[in-house]
Amino acid sequence: MKTGRLKGLMLLAAALLVTFVTTAQNRLIVNADQGTVTINRHIYGHFAEHLGRNIYGGIWVGPDSDVPNEDGYRKDVMQALIDLEIPNLRWPGGCFADEYHWTDGIGDPADRPKMVNTHWGGVTEDNSFGTHEFLNFAKKIGTEPYITGNVGSGSVEEMSKWIEYINFDGVSPMAELRKKNGQEEPWNIKYWGVGNESWGCGGNMTPEYYANEYRRYATFARDYGGNKLYKIAGGANDWDLNWTDVLMKNIPLNMMDGLSLHYYTVTGTWENKGKATEFTKEEYLETLRKASRVDELITKHSTIMDKYDPEKKVGIILDEWGTWFQVEPGTNPGFLYQQNTMRDAHVAAISLNIFNKHAERVHMANLAQTVNVLQAIILTNENDMILTPTYHVFDLYKPHKDATLLSHHLISEEVSFGKEKLEALSVSSSKSDDGTVNISIANIHPDKKIDLDVALRGIEAKNVTAQIVTAASIDSYNSFDKKDAVKKADFKDFKLNKDNLKIAVPANSVLMVRVK
Ligand code: AHR
Repeated sequence: MKTGRLKGLMLLAAALLVTFVTTAQNRLIVNADQGTVTINRHIYGHFAEHLGRNIYGGIWVGPDSDVPNEDGYRKDVMQALIDLEIPNLRWPGGCFADEYHWTDGIGDPADRPKMVNTHWGGVTEDNSFGTHEFLNFAKKIGTEPYITGNVGSGSVEEMSKWIEYINFDGVSPMAELRKKNGQEEPWNIKYWGVGNESWGCGGNMTPEYYANEYRRYATFARDYGGNKLYKIAGGANDWDLNWTDVLMKNIPLNMMDGLSLHYYTVTGTWENKGKATEFTKEEYLETLRKASRVDELITKHSTIMDKYDPEKKVGIILDEWGTWFQVEPGTNPGFLYQQNTMRDAHVAAISLNIFNKHAERVHMANLAQTVNVLQAIILTNENDMILTPTYHVFDLYKPHKDATLLSHHLISEEVSFGKEKLEALSVSSSKSDDGTVNISIANIHPDKKIDLDVALRGIEAKNVTAQIVTAASIDSYNSFDKKDAVKKADFKDFKLNKDNLKIAVPANSVLMVRVK
């Protein structure tokens, strides 16, 4: 054989090998006929505390405001939440819940007593947004309210009466008071939290002490009429597995429907947190690696819960999660206002993929927090609003809600910067009632497109559509001057050939691919 021809053949073989290795490196098998667990839509829940400009200025401006509003609620924010179809909203805290006395927030607003919001900036809370304002807002935006009652500085009687006020349909002092305040029908709410972070801001209790308190409070958290409360015990601070163990051991399973868990993604340390918009690629990976650890966290708590509740009746309620960075320069440190970049979009995508994976045990999750606080989905100024990259990921992921979780197998290449290393792809797959297979894919690589080879098992695929959230770089964000630096768009860079789907997943992007 002539040397030239041999060389040519060798080059071809090398090229084929490279192609094979690359393809083999990024492969996904989706088992479209293997699913039994439903992804609870409440995994896509939210959280609005009386903190900074979340409620006041974010959701509520009052009926006399110049900001366009409907009965005091900002119209722009309200519409954005309606569009997102948020399944639930947690309120009034957070730490605020354990110093909140609900009777201060009912009746004529002019007569409502004021209080100091000691946790968040020491500002005066005028209680103009109270039970009626919250529950009517939930109704307007079509979401399920989730209220956290005060254990730390409240009483069993106070919490018990709050539930009677909200849910009782008959003749009673609390039902009469509700009617006097303009609400004839009970709201019949379902989700009820018994305290918040009782190991810390909610009272600095030991798990043994809290378990007893929970039993006492939960006993008097009554069901009224046909309405059954879903009672949520205050759970552990991230890796405190003992808290979960003690609670599971000491609280009878028929007294607790959910057990909460909080997990924040902090870049650097709590004392010296990273900035929201300025970070190196190594810090970027640190953030995403830490966010990914929620997988291990859920597994560890879940394993303990399995000991006492092998049927997984008690749900993990991850009712606070998200990024926590330094506040934006020049803003009140107690208001926790931070910008939101494509990095946050990836945190959201990775976290939601992981929550889906644990859908059998994770029954609800609530991103912290809705407007202007921490990993917000909406930022507002006086008259204007922006949707953050995180909002767009929640929008993209809508098809996963109430869909059946599918099993999949992913082989992903890695991305590394400095001492940080992580798989470049993160995936979740589900099947909607109409048979559509939903595949969410995050490519966290800042600058490398990844050719993903997808084997679709158990479905005769005919039609594929896709949408994408992406931007120029990992630190891109939406500002009031440039609201669409990060947005959702249609995506077409894929090719279906029978049961094989090739997707060119752009660098720094999150995709939702729908196969029918
Ligand atoms: O989300 C901010 C705070 O973080 C909450 O009030 C508290 O529960 C947690 O420590």
